Amino acid sequence: MFLVFPDPEQIGSYVGQLLVKQIKEKPNSVLGLATGSTMLPVYAAFIKQVKQASLDLSGITTYNLDEYIGLAPEHDQSYHFFMQDNLFKHLNIKPEQTHLPNGQASDMDAEGKTYSRQLQAAHIDVQLLGIGTNGHIGFNEPGTPFDSITHVIELTENTRKDNSRFFDDVSEMPTTAITMGMADIMSAKQVVLVITGEHKAQVVADLFNSSVNEQMPASLLKKHPNSLMIIDEAAAKLIPASACQHVAA
Ligand code: GLP
Repeated sequence: MFLVFPDPEQIGSYVGQLLVKQIKEKPNSVLGLATGSTMLPVYAAFIKQVKQASLDLSGITTYNLDEYIGLAPEHDQSYHFFMQDNLFKHLNIKPEQTHLPNGQASDMDAEGKTYSRQLQAAHIDVQLLGIGTNGHIGFNEPGTPFDSITHVIELTENTRKDNSRFFDDVSEMPTTAITMGMADIMSAKQVVLVITGEHKAQVVADLFNSSVNEQMPASLLKKHPNSLMIIDEAAAKLIPASACQHVAA
């Protein structure tokens, strides 16, 4: 079942409140964070709500899903930069509370194993997720084994095409990334998948129609005991009404 909201702003407000409630109930919450334009209204709402509630974030820890390989944290398309620019710098969060995989590590295999060990020890309370038009979550492209931990992945043509819009020059766009694995994502206590926009209507339909299989990475979330799939009206266009639970503004 998909929770359907009128627009991305209302989703932002709903997910922001979900995070605020989580932190109020458990001040040392561990949050799994995502990047991508889908998250922008979520982070904007969260920042506003944190300020309104004077919420203390000093106990939280965050872990991001992924990072491009080869981009310095200062590169304006790196996910380090995205998180800094769209979330961390607006809040009272110390750098040591936040974690992203290091896309410049000299030994990527070791970096992946270390990151997964950290995730296991931290045990994420709420993991935010967006989705690629091919069904990827994090950067787990179709075909990624469901038992994978944090690993290096070669980006598909489809993903490179989708994400090249952010780069001035496509040739600057990395061809590989490091991402939490499917098993890492599934070990979060709650997963919250957010999908917005008409350009994602097809992948919502694919996800709805798909069995749980590695060619549609997000399908694994159907097996998660505590998952929310939140979409807007535009993304809901190609699925039956019976799959939608509309949430009024
Ligand atoms: C990237 C990220 C994903 C994100 C996806 C969708 O590929 N690795 O985590 O979900 O983009 O991005 P957008 O929200 O911009 O559509």
